Amino acid sequence: MQLFSLLLGLSLGAVVVRAADSPWCYIGCSNTPAHWKDLPGSFCGENKQSPININTSNVKIDHNLPNFSFLNFSSQHVIKSFINNGHTAKFILEENEVELSGGGLNGTYSSLQFHFHWGDTVLHPGSEHKMDGKRYPMEMHIVSIKKGLTTAEALNSKTGIAALGFLINGTEDGDPSSPWSKLTSYLTNTEDVEVTINHNISIDDLIGNVDRTKFYRYMGSLTTPNCSEAVVWTVFQEPIIIHESLIKMFPNKTGHTNIFRPVQKLNERQVYASPATTTIHEWCYDDSCEFSPSKWHLLPHSFCNDKRQSPINIETESVVTDEHLSAFTFNRFNDKKAFGNVTNTGHTVKCKLKEGVWLSDGGLGHRYNTIQLHFHWGSSSQVSNGSEHLVDSQRYPMEMHILSLRADLQLKDALNEDNGLAVLAFFIEANNEAKSSEDSEQQDTNQSDMEAWKKLTNYFSAIQNISSEVEITDDISIDDLIGNVNRNDYYRYNGSLTTPTCNEVVVWTVFKEPIKVDKNLMMMFPNKAGYEDVFRPKQSLHSRIVYSSKKSGCSGPHSVSLFLLLTLTSSSLLRLGE
Ligand SMILES: *[C@@H]1O[C@H](CO)[C@@H](O)[C@H](O)[C@H]1NC(C)=O
Ligand SMILES: *[C@@H]1O[C@H](CO)[C@@H](O)[C@H](O)[C@H]1NC(C)=O
Ligand SMILES: *[C@@H]1O[C@H](CO)[C@@H](O)[C@H](O)[C@H]1NC(C)=O
Ligand SMILES: *[C@@H]1O[C@H](CO)[C@@H](O)[C@H](O)[C@H]1NC(C)=O
Ligand SMILES: *[C@@H]1O[C@H](CO)[C@@H](O)[C@H](O)[C@H]1NC(C)=O
Ligand SMILES: *[C@@H]1O[C@H](CO)[C@@H](O)[C@H](O)[C@H]1NC(C)=O
Ligand SMILES: *[C@@H]1O[C@H](CO)[C@@H](O)[C@H](O)[C@H]1NC(C)=O
Ligand SMILES: [Zn+2]
Ligand SMILES: [Zn+2]
Repeated sequence: MQLFSLLLGLSLGAVVVRAADSPWCYIGCSNTPAHWKDLPGSFCGENKQSPININTSNVKIDHNLPNFSFLNFSSQHVIKSFINNGHTAKFILEENEVELSGGGLNGTYSSLQFHFHWGDTVLHPGSEHKMDGKRYPMEMHIVSIKKGLTTAEALNSKTGIAALGFLINGTEDGDPSSPWSKLTSYLTNTEDVEVTINHNISIDDLIGNVDRTKFYRYMGSLTTPNCSEAVVWTVFQEPIIIHESLIKMFPNKTGHTNIFRPVQKLNERQVYASPATTTIHEWCYDDSCEFSPSKWHLLPHSFCNDKRQSPINIETESVVTDEHLSAFTFNRFNDKKAFGNVTNTGHTVKCKLKEGVWLSDGGLGHRYNTIQLHFHWGSSSQVSNGSEHLVDSQRYPMEMHILSLRADLQLKDALNEDNGLAVLAFFIEANNEAKSSEDSEQQDTNQSDMEAWKKLTNYFSAIQNISSEVEITDDISIDDLIGNVNRNDYYRYNGSLTTPTCNEVVVWTVFKEPIKVDKNLMMMFPNKAGYEDVFRPKQSLHSRIVYSSKKSGCSGPHSVSLFLLLTLTSSSLLRLGE
């Protein structure tokens, strides 16, 4: 008990210290949160502090975050006592009965207590963590200490303490006589008196049906002085929903209002998300979700309304010839083992490429490592075209994008660089329905390897479920898919990713000749993926110029081969829709 009282005293509301004597407060004393850093022995001014705003568009899925195991969370006899300690309402748990493990935690943690943060009596919100800038009415913290560590050791270890954060939202229609009403019946403004809990309430009763497989994870601190940076934080995605009247009881009955610390800077930290979390900001190409293309600019950190957006309509009359747009050098585009997995992202079909595929020259000025390729298409009805770029207002049936990352940059930096990414765009049209052209000789030579397209589209049956992926084991090369398209004849302009967050970091190469593919194989894209018309509407050119390579007779792939069979580590780039 001695062991724990130090921890409780230091961090999470003292058992013994009176509010009046307290060296710190949220409001109404000299040591408000802005001054906590000046308290003796304080870490409150360090750079891994809690709480934070969780920006769900910047979290990284961590596939090594498994489910939690909870011991005795369902027991109705582990919530031992209640105390209003002058800072919060705290419920103390029976010692050595309640435990937490799994969930990516290193070891087993013994749960000590839970307590709350809230706003005021008119439901001014008071959660500590914010979710995409939104503060919830309340937050519950379940505090656990790593088994085998003393309090002092735990506070000195980066992972000595595990805190579970549950956001709480109010509803008017819920049941006001829930387990929460039993709990709130203990709330009092009498401070520092520990009262025994006589009701049978379990922790599970309080958490209710919040999905505990969906959570965010980051390394942080205690949210009260001395703010030790010893806490592995878990904040669950779904809020606990309780009746508003129960939320109001916390300020009303305890006399404390607005007891939450302001959010702290994330600094260099990464917030991770368990694989089960769903993206809160769903975007789509039609009106079936909150963020259709005309609203993409409202998404957090979006560039979708800026002046250098893609795709565009290429007006051939206005194109300027540029002598510097030379032939490309392609490496391992002819490697039949360069394909990794193929994924149905819900927005496109995407093929990951293995390490060692790259391209250079072509007026790019840098070498770019080729990461993935994916497709844009229309509907399965034969009249509907779905390329992203247009040429003289003509849309092609499909478009393939081959995406490469500047070799000297990490993805994070590439997404902030003018030319961090290079995308090669190839139009695709049916080989049995050539578009009208005087140049009939050209049509005959533009054959891609239909066997390769057949092999690729064969995998689509296995990825009909969104997010599913399979490994490509057939021999397919990028060259096979591109076929004989003249790769020296292309348009060049500066643009953006064509999916949120539309970062303006893409050097676009749009090849003039389309790849010819059997219509039946093209139909596999909408039919097997289960969605159609996956292209962004055209964007304004603004003051940009579209350049064109000088037409040359030389055609066909120009490849060098290197056999580096390393797997790609930049998994986040692979998740990019673009
Ligand atoms: C985690 O829990 C969820 C829901 O209870 C379940 O569907 C899933 O299979 C579990 N995952 C593992 C790895 O146990
Ligand atoms: C906690 O769990 C253990 C192991 O299942 C069990 O023996 C014990 O009775 C439980 N304690 C309470 C208070 O429910
Ligand atoms: C897990 O905890 C143990 C003991 O506390 C420690 O020795 C080990 O380095 C930790 N492992 C990781 C991956 O943090
Ligand atoms: C809480 O619930 C209300 C009513 O359902 C909802 O309008 C509000 O957005 C929720 N609050 C937060 C922070 O999500
Ligand atoms: C709590 O549970 C115990 C046994 O599990 C039971 O004897 C007791 O009557 C219950 N108390 C209340 C208030 O329901
Ligand atoms: C797709 O999901 C359904 C239901 O979730 C499942 O039964 C089926 O096996 C899945 N199919 C594939 C190819 O993974
Ligand atoms: C793209 O932008 C860069 C830097 O602003 C500029 O040097 C280059 O000429 C532009 N390229 C095209 C094709 O507009
Ligand atoms: Zn707390
Ligand atoms: Zn694309």
